[in-house]
Amino acid sequence: MKAQDALRRAIPELQEAGIEDAARDARVLLAHALGIGHDRLTLKLQDEMTPPQEAMYDAALAARRARQPVAQITGRRLFWGLSFRVTRDVLDPRPETETLVAEALSRPFLKMLDLGTGSGCILLSCLKGMPMARGLGTDISDAALQVAMGNTRDLGLEARARFRKSDWFAGVTGAYDLIVSNPPYIAAEEMPALAPEVRDWEPHLALTPGGDGLDAYRAITRGAGARLMPGGRLLVEIGPTQGAAVADLFAVAGLQDVRVLPDLDGRDRVVSGEKPGGDSCGCA
Ligand SMILES: C[S@@+](CC[C@H](N)C(=O)[O-])C[C@H]1O[C@@H](n2cnc3c(N)ncnc32)[C@H](O)[C@@H]1O
Repeated sequence: MKAQDALRRAIPELQEAGIEDAARDARVLLAHALGIGHDRLTLKLQDEMTPPQEAMYDAALAARRARQPVAQITGRRLFWGLSFRVTRDVLDPRPETETLVAEALSRPFLKMLDLGTGSGCILLSCLKGMPMARGLGTDISDAALQVAMGNTRDLGLEARARFRKSDWFAGVTGAYDLIVSNPPYIAAEEMPALAPEVRDWEPHLALTPGGDGLDAYRAITRGAGARLMPGGRLLVEIGPTQGAAVADLFAVAGLQDVRVLPDLDGRDRVVSGEKPGGDSCGCA
């Protein structure tokens, strides 16, 4: 079968399964089955597919009809211009998380800690952008840490990134001039309404801490003071309605200059604060 015919057949199949952007997904999965970049697909549409390519495309379409996320099927996700491996054990890195990376890189730092590192996308993107810095990524999931370590090797950052299993700060020692986290923040009652791609395929540990969705922020703000250098910054990603509650937790923890920052869509996305006592450049 020609690639173009396979694509034509796939789009209505995905539409029937309720996939919102069926045409885009059908193209990305076809490029994956052909082993080429998405941008080269148009050049290959007249080519006959080999039987293994057809089998791979059929399997990818079946997975997508079952609402598996595209990044899990192709195994890759572009984040901050870098390619990350993604499996069922980690959160699929979201574009809005780049707001946290941009804020982290807005000031120099030398020693960073990423709590709940998942694929490692935040830690590794920040280290790529700050060549003198070193970092520790932690997660409570062994499987996630394996993915993060694989991404570290792929990006050539083994010399500057380390990983450790830890329940938030429990296994963390030392002091850092930057602590970041995109913790699980979806309230328990919001879970049933999530898209099937998220609810049924991404690790629940990465999505929700249960309850009102704020427990991870409580643990992180409680422990941050002891692990921040004077003048060090704490940055966390939040859900768009959580700005005031998380900013309050920062203030209760004694952090100063607490700010709620928007993402590119204008929705509250990051809370930042710093430990009193350092110089203003944050390189204490
Ligand atoms: C929302 S995901 C973020 C993953 C990645 N940092 C990103 O931004 O794509 C939250 C991560 O926190 C981890 N996590 C959940 N509970 C944790 C805990 N008690 N201690 C440490 N990490 C935890 C999850 O395993 C998951 O990898």
